[in-house]
Amino acid sequence: MTTADTASGAATLAIVLAAGEGTRMRSSLPKVMHRVAGRPMVGHVLDAVAAAGIDRVAVVVGPGMEALVRWVAPHPTPVQAERRGTAHAVLAARAEIAAGAGDLLVVFGDTPLVSPATIGRLLAERRRGAAVAVLGFRPADPSPYGRFVLGADGGLERIVEAKDATPEERAIGLCNAGLMAIEGARALDLLDRVGCDNAKGEFYLTDLVAVARGLGLACRFAEAPEAELMGVNTRLDLAQAEAAMQDRLRRRAMAEGATLVAPETVFLAADTRLGRDVVVYPHVVFGPGVTVGEGAEIRSFSHLEQATVGAGALVGPFARLRPGAELGEGAHVGNFVEIKAATLGAGAKANHLAYIGDASVGAGANIGAGTITCNYDGFGKYRTEIGAGAFIGSNTALVAPVSVGAGAIVGAGSVVTDPVPDDSIAIARARQSTRPGIAPAYRALRRARREGKA
Ligand code: UD1
Ligand code: CA
Repeated sequence: MTTADTASGAATLAIVLAAGEGTRMRSSLPKVMHRVAGRPMVGHVLDAVAAAGIDRVAVVVGPGMEALVRWVAPHPTPVQAERRGTAHAVLAARAEIAAGAGDLLVVFGDTPLVSPATIGRLLAERRRGAAVAVLGFRPADPSPYGRFVLGADGGLERIVEAKDATPEERAIGLCNAGLMAIEGARALDLLDRVGCDNAKGEFYLTDLVAVARGLGLACRFAEAPEAELMGVNTRLDLAQAEAAMQDRLRRRAMAEGATLVAPETVFLAADTRLGRDVVVYPHVVFGPGVTVGEGAEIRSFSHLEQATVGAGALVGPFARLRPGAELGEGAHVGNFVEIKAATLGAGAKANHLAYIGDASVGAGANIGAGTITCNYDGFGKYRTEIGAGAFIGSNTALVAPVSVGAGAIVGAGSVVTDPVPDDSIAIARARQSTRPGIAPAYRALRRARREGKA
């Protein structure tokens, strides 16, 4: 963003339309709350609007969409009580529009891939003397979209919705992406002139173009690639938007210096941050909120969410980092190890088959195979504290709340219920009894019993 873009953005009011029921999704969740790269679609749209330098935003919601209202807070959320079309939805924000703005920017909450630069270009197009500027694109399959009808001078004359289009109009490849910039001072007047005489009986925002042209006002359009402008109406569209977003995120991660050995098998969240020289092996899934430090390796089939991985750490294969997992520099978390709400200090290791939850593990500690923090007793969660350099033998159950001091050693197979002080050795398991030479006699007795002789 240049400072000029940011300065012009200040005069803009963005209205995000999110009141639609999303009938075609067949979902009880509002459409714009469906996630792409771990983030609700409306979140991506709000990010793009903010990055374009626009800070006045209203999100038009439908009745009863409380989760959406909470998600977009503190932006105002005017309610469109009845879904009567996209122009009707914009007018739900009448009070915000009446407060005045240089530009009114309308963005659809179901168009999650739009970039800040494209929003900037649309606003620039409007400011070239047009009352209305609309964003167009040429999708591979134009069938669901409104079509741009151009005048002899190449300017935009009107937009015709697919359902209202003649066969000739349906042959037009240039489609409406839905984003529109409207001269702020004229916006309410133009919107109030839109009628509902069409196939769906709705107030179409797209009719604003014909309304403006009818008043002798100029309308323009900008174009951008389909990868940014596809609208999500169905679950299939959602999967395609996810694929497009993943492609973008993988490219960004690699551009920032991470190696993705097989990028098409790695799934990133919108906020995943991979440091320089991080290597991600095939088939790794990043949920939201993951940061990986420089030079760390994430090996195949690992799943990470709301976790921090320190520089040079090794994770996986087959590791699971759940919310609150924090690995220090050079820590190792190996196969079939689950970490939740726990910190591992620098160089600490849990290499095989372990569950570390609600715990802190000091630097350089070694957690043996099969170690379990028993953090939950069916009622409450309790903490386990393990000091620096401690050694926890294989198959140890740490019954929380419990602590193992720095430098302490716990014998394999222990069930630890009492604190283990620094530098002590604790063994908490049944003693072994051994009876030398007795095995042959035992076998003979069992055989005789089987054959009914004893
Ligand atoms: C709309 C455009 C179409 C364009 C396409 C681009 C209109 C009439 N049509 O069609 O030209 O090619 O987007 O993706 O504008 N919404 C409300 N209230 C309503 C109706 C819709 O808030 O009463 C919201 C929806 O939540 C959605 C957005 O407006 O975020 C677009 O609505 P949708 O029904 O998906 O429009 P399309 O049929 O896709
Ligand atoms: Ca749509």
